[in-house]
Amino acid sequence: MSTTTISTNMSQRKKVTTLTFRQKKERGEPITMLTAYDYPTAVAMDKAGIDSILVGDSLAMVVLGYENTLPVTMDEMLHHARAVARGAKASLLVGDMPFMSYQVSADDALRNAGRFLQQGGMDAVKLEGGRERADAVRAITGAGIPVMGHLGLTPQSVHQLGGFRAQGKTASAAKRLLEDAQILEEAGAFSIVLEAVPARLAEYISKHISIPTIGIGAGAGCDGQVLVTHDLLGLFDRFTPKFVRQYANLHEMMNKAFTDYIDDVESKRFPAVEHTVEMTDEEWAVFQKELK
Ligand code: KIV
Repeated sequence: MSTTTISTNMSQRKKVTTLTFRQKKERGEPITMLTAYDYPTAVAMDKAGIDSILVGDSLAMVVLGYENTLPVTMDEMLHHARAVARGAKASLLVGDMPFMSYQVSADDALRNAGRFLQQGGMDAVKLEGGRERADAVRAITGAGIPVMGHLGLTPQSVHQLGGFRAQGKTASAAKRLLEDAQILEEAGAFSIVLEAVPARLAEYISKHISIPTIGIGAGAGCDGQVLVTHDLLGLFDRFTPKFVRQYANLHEMMNKAFTDYIDDVESKRFPAVEHTVEMTDEEWAVFQKELK
């Protein structure tokens, strides 16, 4: 990863790296992260100054319309990763390893992680799970590829977890989660997403590991925060998790824009003169003459 200065229309900012993540934790400065799946969103986020962009496998649900994250493939993830990489220059780009791209073997995990950097333009990868993923994390980081862990509600295990539900709510589950975080740190992860875990547990874990935690539904005690952008923008029509703050309602705005367009076309208010290309009267006269 380079430490070059990146020019944007708004300002110049340095490329965010895994080192930046560590320094922000040390300084107690919150790390900001959002998901993106396409070029224009990546451009807008990068310009806004986001620290990190996750090309999440939430792509499966919020963009491709599946019920859960399981169906999305490596090739689909790479297609969207490339679009994001073309748009975002300064943010740390993290590719989310899809279901079955790292669970079968550490070799598979390394090969697919490598594809995210070589073919997807990502700077790092994320994968779900704790102790059972330690070998995969070691193999990937051993090749020089930064890995972000993901604990708590791990959506790729939705069937095993019995649904999208909060995790770590009992003393024994909390202890296991803390151990998993320590194991991921020891295996070389540079950061860990904590999803839907009790706030006091997330804060405790954040204080007892040296790598930054990025929370989603895990309270303010994490070292950073991530949200699924379609939830933040109100773009996903099916549901919005309780832990989301919605900053816009783009679904409603899109619906209004589309119905206004249909209405304008049907009532012949669009296109108007200003949307129309004209030719000169002279050329028109010649055209008509040539038809005779
Ligand atoms: O896929 C995703 O968007 C994620 C976030 C919820 C962290 O993994």
